[in-house]
Amino acid sequence: MFFESVFPKGERMNLAVFVSGSGTNLQAIIDAVAGGKLSADIKLVLSSRPDAFALQRAEKHGIPAVYLSSKEFDSREKFIRAMLETLRRHQVDFIALAGYMRRVPPEVVQKFKNRITNIHPALLPAFGGKGMYGIRVHRAVIEYGCKVTGVTVHLVDEEYDHGPIVAQRCVPVLDDDTPETLAARVLEVEHQLYPEVLQLFAEGKVIVEGRRVKIAK
Ligand code: GAR
Repeated sequence: MFFESVFPKGERMNLAVFVSGSGTNLQAIIDAVAGGKLSADIKLVLSSRPDAFALQRAEKHGIPAVYLSSKEFDSREKFIRAMLETLRRHQVDFIALAGYMRRVPPEVVQKFKNRITNIHPALLPAFGGKGMYGIRVHRAVIEYGCKVTGVTVHLVDEEYDHGPIVAQRCVPVLDDDTPETLAARVLEVEHQLYPEVLQLFAEGKVIVEGRRVKIAK
């Protein structure tokens, strides 16, 4: 198993969704598949936390759901081997990170080159990087005084929040926003954008040229 390229045209996507929390983005992806808007099969949901509500969402929809954390292994190598073996066993050929709060091991990034996406609740490269996740991002955006924030879907490389940007969408910051109200407005956009972007991959329309990602007509 070694993928060198972006997802090819004409194949059905075998998706794994990596989660750590509530899994509302996972739900949006499940709904898009069920509604015929995303031509993919969700083969696996992998959580870094045993208590993630996302695991329950997966089970409710009959999707194989596993908890896999480096904490449960006595070496990093064993953890990575277990992750790759789990992906292979479920015939995964594309990974969508959806609120996954761990770094994907470089060995996995290399094996799934240009086939791992992440969704980030801000306009990268602003408000990204280590420690910038979830509500912290929205708090930082408000504290900075930004008038606009948004959503970024990007390819995952070895650095946090760094891979080539595939799509971005803006969200206004309102004068009376709290981190919670802003998070809710941003999440609504995430739920639209992520399935749309995954469908572009599933259709083989995503072209990666260095840092620039283009969408075929
Ligand atoms: C989402 O807002 C996602 O963009 C963010 O975590 C939330 C997960 O929500 N991800 C990051 O901050 C990654 N740096 P969900 O579990 O309800 O999909």
